[in-house]
Amino acid sequence: MKHIYVGVAWPYVNDVFHLGNVAGAYLPPDIFARFHRLKGNRVLMVSGSDFHGTPITLRAEKEGKDPEAVASSFHELDKQYLKRFFIEYDLYTSTHTPNHRKVVQEMFLKLLGNGFITILKTEQLYSEHSKKFLQDRYIEGECPHCHAKDARGDQCESCGRQLDPLELINPVSKVDKSALVKKETENYFLDLGKLQGPVKKWLVSRKNLRQWVQREALGWVKEGLKPRAITRDMDYGVPLPIAKIPAKLRIHNIQHKVFYVWFEAVIGYLSAAIEYSKKKGDLRYWKSFFYDKKAETFYFVGQDNLVFHTINWPAQLIAYDTNINLPTNVFVNKFLLLEGKKMSKSRNWFIETPYLLENYSVDALRFYLALNNPEQKALNFTWQDFVETNNNILVATIGNFIHRVLTLSVKNFGASFSLSDVSQPVKARIKKAFSTTSLHMERGEFRLATSEVVSLASFGNRYVDKHQLWHLVKNDKKKAKKAAIDCLAIIQALSVLLHPFTPQASDTLRSVLGSPKTKTKKGKDQWNYESLSSRVRLAKNITPLFSKIDESVIAKEKAKLSLR
Ligand code: MF3
Ligand code: ZN
Repeated sequence: MKHIYVGVAWPYVNDVFHLGNVAGAYLPPDIFARFHRLKGNRVLMVSGSDFHGTPITLRAEKEGKDPEAVASSFHELDKQYLKRFFIEYDLYTSTHTPNHRKVVQEMFLKLLGNGFITILKTEQLYSEHSKKFLQDRYIEGECPHCHAKDARGDQCESCGRQLDPLELINPVSKVDKSALVKKETENYFLDLGKLQGPVKKWLVSRKNLRQWVQREALGWVKEGLKPRAITRDMDYGVPLPIAKIPAKLRIHNIQHKVFYVWFEAVIGYLSAAIEYSKKKGDLRYWKSFFYDKKAETFYFVGQDNLVFHTINWPAQLIAYDTNINLPTNVFVNKFLLLEGKKMSKSRNWFIETPYLLENYSVDALRFYLALNNPEQKALNFTWQDFVETNNNILVATIGNFIHRVLTLSVKNFGASFSLSDVSQPVKARIKKAFSTTSLHMERGEFRLATSEVVSLASFGNRYVDKHQLWHLVKNDKKKAKKAAIDCLAIIQALSVLLHPFTPQASDTLRSVLGSPKTKTKKGKDQWNYESLSSRVRLAKNITPLFSKIDESVIAKEKAKLSLR
């Protein structure tokens, strides 16, 4: 039994998460965790809401609300919707808890004590109008690269480049459009230069890190890592532990600073594991993931989070304690495009999460996203592709095979079957499905893992055709029963193999087969042929597992999108 830690990106709660977030960051870890649980491994999967940062304060200001109120309301909604996607965390918390604050402050003090924090004065943009420094998304101006007029202080949406607000041409305040001036301010910086060597060593030693991810991260290292500010002139966020900072190390104006959201949000990976341990009443539990040398720690994030998870977070961990486990792997996904274009809520090129959940089957969505998981290139979600994948693969290949065999079996041979006599080639094919999917799951190759499940079902379909099962059952019942038993074994295997991808269908199928719901047990590996039960008792009422989506949906949904 292995200890597997699964850290999932923390959504900003300035809105409800969308399909792109599910595809990029939240679904893959759920598939991965479900797989490992079935392997009998001890899994700890955590995440929560990223409560701080300018996306939230901006929305709050616009609506005349407290940032906490905005964050809390979306936190509740996200939690509900994640559940409805069957994305199951051991703990889903937030970065706005006393525990998180404590862990962040402790990490900061340790980094300070270990000599990885420097104090630097830099110029930043200041609004004379509102008498404060502005950051990131509070600033707007012309992009120095592509000259788009509406670049943000942290990034240009048009050309995608990360920006330093000082590079912007004619920067103004996003809130009141007033001009901004440069003014000097003092902040704490993480001295990434000192951590460059160990970060590079870690990066180079990652075996299953996706190559494009490794290349991009090493590219940053090659450019040379510079000190990065970890505090901000703001009043909303995780406060500094002023009393615990030696007087001579306190920065100027320290009472008006908070930690930079990216510095503290990633620490959520640790604080959530600690919070879970407290809840469990086993205070050292998290250490079995973060310090046990045999434990493995995995992170799942979208493309825009790459740097913070492949450079900053490992650097923070190294600076904190050279004995703590560094990420075994960081699975970074590319973006999701909608009908070939970048999703944008403000421009109405978007699908609302609640609408999606009301109108489409979660299993169908999960299956589509898994089969097209954007590991190497962006996923272009098109309604046509989604409907066709559902109708041709989920329904026609997987669902129909299962349904045809189950109904034929009950009708001709009754409900109870012993599966101890499965033919050799079928047994071998099922075993291959378990071992191949295993391999892909461990490497985060979810497209290939999903394809292997589909190909087992295709094998089943071909098996039915080859034996002409419908014909056989009329002419040679004995032979037909033997073939049906082979197919039932495949179906039983599918009830396990489908669990990470389409958990609802897997549960339904298991109950139709008279097997208990997939229940995981630590130390009990169920991801193999041998642990399938040797008897099935089929239910009387067999209804199709998946249903077709009417093709008229394609035009209807596309018509709803219009670029404004
Ligand atoms: N809130 C960030 C985003 O939505 C992600 C933060 S991941 C974390 O892009 F680990 F840093 F929290
Ligand atoms: Zn630009």
